Amino acid sequence: MDKDQLKRAVANAAVEYSLTRIDNDSVVGIGTGSTANFFIDAIAAHRHKFSGTVASSSASEQRLKGLGVPVFELNSVAEITLYVDGADEINPQLQLIKGGGAALTREKIVAAVAREFVCIADQSKWVEHLGKFPLPVEVIPMARSYVARELFKLGGDPVWRHGVVTDNGNVIIDVHDLCPIAADGSLERAVNQITGVVTNGLFAIKPATTVLLSTRSGIQTYIS
Ligand code: 5RP
Repeated sequence: MDKDQLKRAVANAAVEYSLTRIDNDSVVGIGTGSTANFFIDAIAAHRHKFSGTVASSSASEQRLKGLGVPVFELNSVAEITLYVDGADEINPQLQLIKGGGAALTREKIVAAVAREFVCIADQSKWVEHLGKFPLPVEVIPMARSYVARELFKLGGDPVWRHGVVTDNGNVIIDVHDLCPIAADGSLERAVNQITGVVTNGLFAIKPATTVLLSTRSGIQTYIS
């Protein structure tokens, strides 16, 4: 099985899982990235079984609408039954690094609202300690240099992701050399305390509820 087959398999498993959780009134949160795209393509066939979706990026919103799936503004929705999204790294505590696709802020917002966060990934994303994948940080553009200096003081090597502008009009700094990131949430809090930071891609304080991991021998399920 190649990586795309693993991603498609876990996306299909997430659709089966979602169908056990949702009803006609449910709103489903939809993530961003290649694994989330497989989920979008698979859940579209079941669009009559739930009320609609909230998307974590413009790209996912366009894909959903193209498949005839209703997409709501988050402000018009009281509750999200479950949120399904990929990740760049996952540790055994089900903490994540996200933001490889620069959608981290909206992803964190949708995850905050959702009753359940189902993370889907192929086995390459599973790590013992987070931090080999550079930590994405969304930053207000005028604060970029200042924030980079502050991130350096926290022990990282900040690199501006040139040419990338987020859906919110901001820039991304990827912080290298942080591995191993402590699992106590202290780094997530410290980075968010820097003035000019919108948010960072660590999901340590509020990990995924469930991880579906696609391996060559099948789907493994982890529950926090
Ligand atoms: C986007 C994300 C994605 O979930 C993450 O980058 C994983 O993407 P993929 O499924 O393409 O490997 O956080 O901001």
